[in-house]
Amino acid sequence: MNITVVGSGYVGLVVGACLAETGNDVICADVDARKIERLKQNELPIYEPGLDAYVERNQRDGRLSFTTDVAWAVGEADVVFIAVGTPPDEDGSADLRHVLAVAQIIGSSMRRETVVVTKSTVPVGTAAKVAEAVAKQSKFPFHMVSNPEFLKEGAAVDDFMKPDRVVLGVESDMARSVMAELYAPFVRTGRPIIFMDIPSAELTKYAANAMLATRISFMNEIANLCEKVGADVDLVRRGIGSDERIGPSFLFPGPGYGGSCFPKDVQALSRTARERGADLAILEAVEAVNSKQKHRVAEKVEQALGKSMKGARVAVWGLAFKANTDDMRESPALTVIADLLERGATVVAHDPVAMPEAKHRLGTTVQFAESSYDALRDADALAVVTDWNEYRHPDFERMRTLLRRPVIVDGRNLYNAARMQQLGFEYYSIGRPDARKSTAAGTVGSRS
Ligand SMILES: NC(=O)c1ccc[n+]([C@@H]2O[C@H](COP(=O)([O-])OP(=O)(O)OC[C@H]3O[C@@H](n4cnc5c(N)ncnc54)[C@H](O)[C@@H]3O)[C@@H](O)[C@H]2O)c1
Repeated sequence: MNITVVGSGYVGLVVGACLAETGNDVICADVDARKIERLKQNELPIYEPGLDAYVERNQRDGRLSFTTDVAWAVGEADVVFIAVGTPPDEDGSADLRHVLAVAQIIGSSMRRETVVVTKSTVPVGTAAKVAEAVAKQSKFPFHMVSNPEFLKEGAAVDDFMKPDRVVLGVESDMARSVMAELYAPFVRTGRPIIFMDIPSAELTKYAANAMLATRISFMNEIANLCEKVGADVDLVRRGIGSDERIGPSFLFPGPGYGGSCFPKDVQALSRTARERGADLAILEAVEAVNSKQKHRVAEKVEQALGKSMKGARVAVWGLAFKANTDDMRESPALTVIADLLERGATVVAHDPVAMPEAKHRLGTTVQFAESSYDALRDADALAVVTDWNEYRHPDFERMRTLLRRPVIVDGRNLYNAARMQQLGFEYYSIGRPDARKSTAAGTVGSRS
């Protein structure tokens, strides 16, 4: 099939590369000329495991190409995916400017009967607006589809190639059969394609992200309660996660959720609900809890170091909003760092892949260390913010000799508190008992 994907960011690039991988002829179009130039040279604008090989192979074999000429690319296609950004507007609603701009170009550039797919995360009613904008300009028949994307950054290629499910909102038999054919190679193992009406498909994406964000905020609140009552959230998590009705995923407390999706999608869904007179009180709470949680790590560093942090040097491990990505949009690390700087600390940061992005965002306000161990040199504390694998089993002896004070605030619960205590650390995590230094009289575990 001839496919054009408009918007070659995180989603557009993954969609384009994966559809080319299954034999389609794909053009990825974007208005960002620098991005397109780099992509033509197989230089990816994002870090995403496995994606580079797909881009390189399919570009070499002529199934994948890149262009800034969106109108031309649309004219070549049987199916056009809209995968441009939908950032939050000032009031939290999704800003549809880019989506509707693309819709206009589709309308004026289509050269045959076309299937128009909204892949971007868009509020209920957007496909209808896109259809209106396309219809205003177009002489050709077209078919709208809402096909929300559920990929996870850091595992995006795998998620697209082996999706849990594919959700397709369709209105015509033609759209249904074209999309079923396009997705057939991805659901061979029996994962379902779920066809539905377009508003339901649009809402499904927001409901999924809102549910996941709700689980995270719920567990963060339970973790904070664990700290007050002397319980261990790890045990509580396992205790509830083994209940089949609950399941084990997304029950890990931490420094709050971030990224390009949850924060903006929770806000946009709240906004949609308010506009329609159906306040989703739960989502207001999810957001409020998350905003508060993002400050927990710095608060714990302050508690550990004593009230004045002026002149303290704090190492921060992890800048990306989660492991296996260099995406720092809404990353909790940004809040942790801002809080530490505001309290007068000096911050030395490390991240395995997000440092170029971090330098761009943070400039000279923080120091950047070449290695995770370099960041610890003469630091008064370490704050762990992202759960990169390389932080899971570090050389603790080496860490202790490098740190000026053996204080670790672990925002991801990566380490075992008893072991850290044995090794001579003061160790604080989220929702678990703190571990203070051993004393001559024995070990002392206490809570903050
Ligand atoms: N990133 C994710 O993990 C993820 C997952 C699922 C869904 N989504 C949704 O997918 C959409 C895209 O997200 P993303 O993370 O890929 O965004 P992104 O910012 O990485 O990419 C968007 C791209 O669209 C391009 N663009 C903007 N206006 C354009 C126009 N008029 N014509 C052509 N190109 C244009 C931009 O230059 C940019 O390259 C959003 O709605 C997002 O919510 C994202």
